[in-house]
Amino acid sequence: MAYIGIEQVSKSFQTEKGARHVLDAVNLAVEEGEFVSVVGYSGSGKSTLLALAAGLIAPDSGRVRLGGRASVVFQNYSLLPWFSALENVRLAVESEFPGWDLKRQKEQAIRFLDMVGLGAALEKRPSQLSGGMRQRVAIARAFASEPQILLLDEPFGALDALSRGNLQQELIRMCSAAGRAVTALMITNSVEEAILLSDRIVPLTRAPRATLGPSISVPLPKPRKPEQLLHDPDAIRTQAKVVEFLTGFEHSAAVRAPGGPRSAAFLPSAGHSREAVRMEAES
Ligand SMILES: Nc1ncnc2c1ncn2[C@@H]1O[C@H](COP(=O)(O)OP(=O)(O)OP(=O)(O)O)[C@@H](O)[C@H]1O
Ligand SMILES: [Mg+2]
Repeated sequence: MAYIGIEQVSKSFQTEKGARHVLDAVNLAVEEGEFVSVVGYSGSGKSTLLALAAGLIAPDSGRVRLGGRASVVFQNYSLLPWFSALENVRLAVESEFPGWDLKRQKEQAIRFLDMVGLGAALEKRPSQLSGGMRQRVAIARAFASEPQILLLDEPFGALDALSRGNLQQELIRMCSAAGRAVTALMITNSVEEAILLSDRIVPLTRAPRATLGPSISVPLPKPRKPEQLLHDPDAIRTQAKVVEFLTGFEHSAAVRAPGGPRSAAFLPSAGHSREAVRMEAES
């Protein structure tokens, strides 16, 4: 049985204008120790998919099964604003390990905040931290509860390119420092980021009724460095496959759409820069 199993999941939301069909018959099986990324356009239903995987919302049909304890890193950090970095992490430790005394919970929180380079900012509240630092707290919080499954919703999406690169490397380090295989499902809009971190990439088609495309494996040894990927033929081929699926689907969908084609021009071909490959928000 898959460690993360999403079977025939569909989800719609009721809005003032009627039902909004977001996801349609989504299937995904992630094996233990695998790192899988879902890439897709803004608004296609990526966060909805992650919330379904985390059990935060229920599917209309189909089912979701997890084989272990999961921690979620949300798209917008979602730290508790009136608590310090240390308390934000310790509270997560407490909810996972309620039998531990306060001292042990604090030690655990400090250990993971140290790992993300925030040992000197333990007492700062989220409003006193930069975006990158907040995201570090969110990552420390996820790891401190020692999850078997990590569910990551664009964990670096709000960061500048440099901070993003540093935190990606930290995530790689923390996954290997965990001493056991961490199973991860990451949502991203950056094909490059998906190639850097994942064993497999699964594209999500556009809204409405988005569904997952075929799995594209990343045939490169891990851990990977961004600079190695720039000229690696396998990395370039992988990127081309993902982008071609998304743009190809877009073209065929555009032909069918009564309103005519929507712009897919911002989706570049393989080999473009990190910034160019990141899929832009749908206007
Ligand atoms: N609770 C809700 N009620 C109504 N509509 C919703 C709700 N949650 C999400 N949606 C709609 O579902 C669609 C998908 O939203 P979702 O947040 O999953 O997209 P996303 O792919 O994560 O986008 P982004 O890349 O911008 O984060 C959007 O049209 C959104 O407006
Ligand atoms: Mg989202």
